[in-house]
Amino acid sequence: MFVVPGEDRREAIATFPGVAHMSTDVAVAEAVRGASRGIGGVLLFGLPDLKDAIGSSAWDDGGPVQAATRAIRAAVPGLVIATDVCLCQYTDHGHCGVLHDDGTVANDETLPLLARVAVSHARAGADIVAPSDMMDGRVHAIRAALDEAGHAESAAILSYSTKFASAFYGPFRDAAHSAPQRGDRKTYQMDPANAREALRESLLDEAEGADMLMVKPAGPYLDVLARVVESTDLPVAAYQVSGEHAALRFAAANGALDLRSATLESLLAIRRAGASAIMTYAAIDAAEWLDD
Ligand code: PBG
Repeated sequence: MFVVPGEDRREAIATFPGVAHMSTDVAVAEAVRGASRGIGGVLLFGLPDLKDAIGSSAWDDGGPVQAATRAIRAAVPGLVIATDVCLCQYTDHGHCGVLHDDGTVANDETLPLLARVAVSHARAGADIVAPSDMMDGRVHAIRAALDEAGHAESAAILSYSTKFASAFYGPFRDAAHSAPQRGDRKTYQMDPANAREALRESLLDEAEGADMLMVKPAGPYLDVLARVVESTDLPVAAYQVSGEHAALRFAAANGALDLRSATLESLLAIRRAGASAIMTYAAIDAAEWLDD
């Protein structure tokens, strides 16, 4: 869910059918609806009012993710709440970390900032913090900060451990207003051609203290997902990303596919490859269809 400041806001996103910007009150209603259909949890992304060079509104305890976390926790106590930990929605340059003077992303300088974001989310009541920035060493930095802040047992880390530099994130970047102003994310996200590096990245995050791993996107990378699942005892999630979702929705809207059977088949394939959990924008629909 993409949470925005304000009240009574539900705004469609042209490139992202079925997904909307929602203010906290609307997000709460959506969470209640999802829970009643049997979804496992929600994953929250925030769009702040203010962006700056270091993404400082990301650790504002009054920010949209923090506010939605508290409100959903109160309205649906049993629902798992996961929060996206990254800077790209909050930086004015759109990168997932802070920048050196020459415009390149500063990995190590970003780590303490991500840790602040994670602690702020945990303080708001998140069950799971999910770092998606792909900086090296962030899982270790976040784990240490959570432990120190008293969240050793209350907050788990779901690491986007193998996240590819993919063309399938287009609708998300429209929704999150997070496209990089210059350059791309290839210096920190994984090379789609390199399966062995992808595996190594996930295992590094396990060693740093991740509680769950994740492969993203899901559909184009089922081989990688299956290999990660075989290489770890941790739960492995898979993320059916915005472009995968939009492709299904636009194809169905034009009569090329049956939405229900194509979506369920795509989710079945992700499960068959070994995913313990699936992040998908079709979650509420799928839960309803599976219940039928
Ligand atoms: C932010 C982030 C992205 C996604 C999740 N977290 C976009 C990106 O890396 O540019 C993509 C999710 C989707 O496409 O559904 N780092």
